[in-house]
Amino acid sequence: MGKSQTVSFSSRESLMEESNKFLQERKRPERPTDKVVIEKLHKTYLTSSGRTVALQDVNLTIGKDEFVALVGPSGCGKSTLLRAISALIKPSKGKILIDGTPVSSPSNQVGIVFQQAVLLPWRTVLDNVLLPAEILRLNLVKARARARDLLNMVGLSGFEARYPGELSGGMQQRAAICRALIHNPSMLLMDEPFAALDALTREELGLELLRIWAAEKKTIVFVTHNISEAILLADRVVAMSPRPGRISEIISVDLPRPRALDMEFLPEFKSYSDRVRAVIGHS
Ligand SMILES: Nc1ncnc2c1ncn2[C@@H]1O[C@H](COP(=O)(O)OP(=O)(O)O)[C@@H](O)[C@H]1O
Ligand SMILES: [Mg+2]
Repeated sequence: MGKSQTVSFSSRESLMEESNKFLQERKRPERPTDKVVIEKLHKTYLTSSGRTVALQDVNLTIGKDEFVALVGPSGCGKSTLLRAISALIKPSKGKILIDGTPVSSPSNQVGIVFQQAVLLPWRTVLDNVLLPAEILRLNLVKARARARDLLNMVGLSGFEARYPGELSGGMQQRAAICRALIHNPSMLLMDEPFAALDALTREELGLELLRIWAAEKKTIVFVTHNISEAILLADRVVAMSPRPGRISEIISVDLPRPRALDMEFLPEFKSYSDRVRAVIGHS
């Protein structure tokens, strides 16, 4: 056997090994710690003025109880991705599994918070928070107790009987977070939830959200275009590039918890934020 054959045999063997490894990876069942598995996701919007490719080949696995922030410039497909996870829109191609099951319709296991609180003005704070519990026909005695606990956790004790019009924007958004949590979903999807708030309220609410997350372990997917907010809150920052929306890089944030606002002055914080900024080409 010539030398060249030996070489080609061993390289064929290593090729086989590689391809076996690849196949095993592909066949690997979802780990029990995988909460969301997104594979080869594409979304194209068709409108009268043409087609917009909003997401292209998005692959992402989110762990159970993980806090993931999606960051990227406006129009890069963050809301589209979040809506696809919550089954509010149908992807054009690819799949999304939650707890190993393909998503097809909105699930009770998911709570959603949008940029605007959208509380019903004729309902009190408590009754707004209770709305999903009523729709899902949960035990209202228990739900009322949970609503009070949640409102207490976000500093809204004493405001239960007030109407949304009597609350500041920050207070309304706190109530909206309680409403999203009332049925104790295992996952919270948040689309720029603090973007309409002033900087101080925004920081305060971010830390409150971390306290809630620590108290009631949940998987959180948090969309923001604020890089510091993403780093301060998340375990991993998923940086998306402008259209067509793709994941450019996933950055693990190894800052200790509990997080505090003054961590922003740490050199590590600055290097994380420089990296995210470089990836998404944004200031
Ligand atoms: N319902 C829709 N119909 C048509 N185009 C849409 C729709 N929703 C979003 N888009 C387009 O898809 C792209 C991604 O939008 P979006 O997911 O809202 O981005 P982001 O949340 O990052 O700002 C944008 O170009 C936007 O104009
Ligand atoms: Mg958006």
